[in-house]
Amino acid sequence: MKVLGIETSCDETGVAVYDTDAGLRAHALYSQIALHAEYGGVVPELASRDHVRKLLPLVRQTLAEAGLSTSDLDGVAYTAGPGLVGALLVGAGVARSMAWALDVPAVAVHHMEGHLLAPLLEDDPVRGRPEPPFVALLVSGGHTQLVHVETIGQYRLLGETLDDAAGEAFDKTAKLMGLPYPGGPQLAALAEQGNPGVFRFARPMTDRPGLDFSFSGLKTQVLLAWQNSDRADQTRADIARGFEDAVVETLAIKCERALDAAGCDTLVVAGGVGANKRLRARLEETARKRGGRVSFPRPQFCTDNGAMIAFAGALRLQAGQHEDASVKVTPRWDMASLAPVG
Ligand code: KG4
Ligand code: ZN
Repeated sequence: MKVLGIETSCDETGVAVYDTDAGLRAHALYSQIALHAEYGGVVPELASRDHVRKLLPLVRQTLAEAGLSTSDLDGVAYTAGPGLVGALLVGAGVARSMAWALDVPAVAVHHMEGHLLAPLLEDDPVRGRPEPPFVALLVSGGHTQLVHVETIGQYRLLGETLDDAAGEAFDKTAKLMGLPYPGGPQLAALAEQGNPGVFRFARPMTDRPGLDFSFSGLKTQVLLAWQNSDRADQTRADIARGFEDAVVETLAIKCERALDAAGCDTLVVAGGVGANKRLRARLEETARKRGGRVSFPRPQFCTDNGAMIAFAGALRLQAGQHEDASVKVTPRWDMASLAPVG
C-alpha cells in the first residue's frame, strides 16, 4: 500500500510517500524559518499562506523522487491536529481533494502520534523495530509528555508539562540570551562550546514524586544568571551548557521513573528536542545501565516531517480506518481519544 503523507500543522510543509511493502519511498520538507525569523516566532496567517504556495509543488517533487504518479497512490494521510487551524486546513483540503479525485481513502493523523511512531518508521538492522508495550517521551515545541503505549493507537498519559514545553523552554531561553529564532538548535550548538558545571540550574520537580514537568522557572533562572554575568561569549556558552544539562537531566530522571511506573524497559523518544545530541547520549546511557533499550528516529525525523505522517496514516489505513470526505481539522486533540490500530 502506497500512502502519501502531508504535514502542515505549523511552520514546516512536509510530504512523503510510505510504502507498506518497501518502506519510505521519498520525502521532502520545506521549512518556513526564514519567513518567520524577522517576527521572532511563527505568524499563523503567514504560515497558512506559505503552505498554500509550497504544498502542491512539494507533492509533485516527492512523487517524482519516488518514481510514482498520483494513480499509484492507495491512500492519503494528513495531519488534522493539534496545530494552527489555518495551516492544518491547507493540508486537510489538499489531502481530502486528492483522495476524492483519486477515489482512495484519506485518514486524519494526530501530529503527536506521528511523532510517537517516528522511531518505528525505519528498521533498526541490529535490534529490529521497538514493539509495544513501551514508554514514549514526546518532546517538541508544543508538547512534553510521557506516554505509556500498550498497543499502537492506545496512549495513556503518564505525565506532562504544567507550563512550557521542553522545546519552548529551549526557544525562549535562547531568545533571552539574544540568539536568533528558532533558538533551540542554536542554543544546543552553543552549549557544545560551554563548560559543564560553571552554571548549575535546578532540575525542576525531580525532588518530589510524580511524572509531570515544569520548565518555565528554569528560563527565569537563566535570565537572572545572564543579566548578572559579564555577558562574554564564553559565559553565554557556559550558561547554555548549564541550561541544557538541567533539561536533559530532568527528562532522563522522569523517563526512568516512567519506565519503572509502566514496568517496562523500552523507551522511544520523539519530537524536535529528540534531535538533541546530549539528550540522546544521556538516555542511551540510562538504557545501558538498566539493560533496556531506547530508540530515536534519525534527527531529521525528530522535527516535523511528512514521513511520520505517511507512516502513521499507513498503519491506520492498512487496518481499514479512514473518515468520510469532509474537510475537518482538530486544532486541540487529546491523544488518549484515538482508536487503537487494528
Ligand atoms: O517537533 P517539532 O519540530 O515541532 C513541534 O511539533 O513543536 O519541535 C520543534 C522544537 C523547537 O522548540 C526546537 O527548538 C526544538 O524542537 N529543537 C531542539 C533541537 N532541535 C529542535 N531543541 C534542543 N536541541 C535540538 N538539537
Ligand atoms: Zn511536531
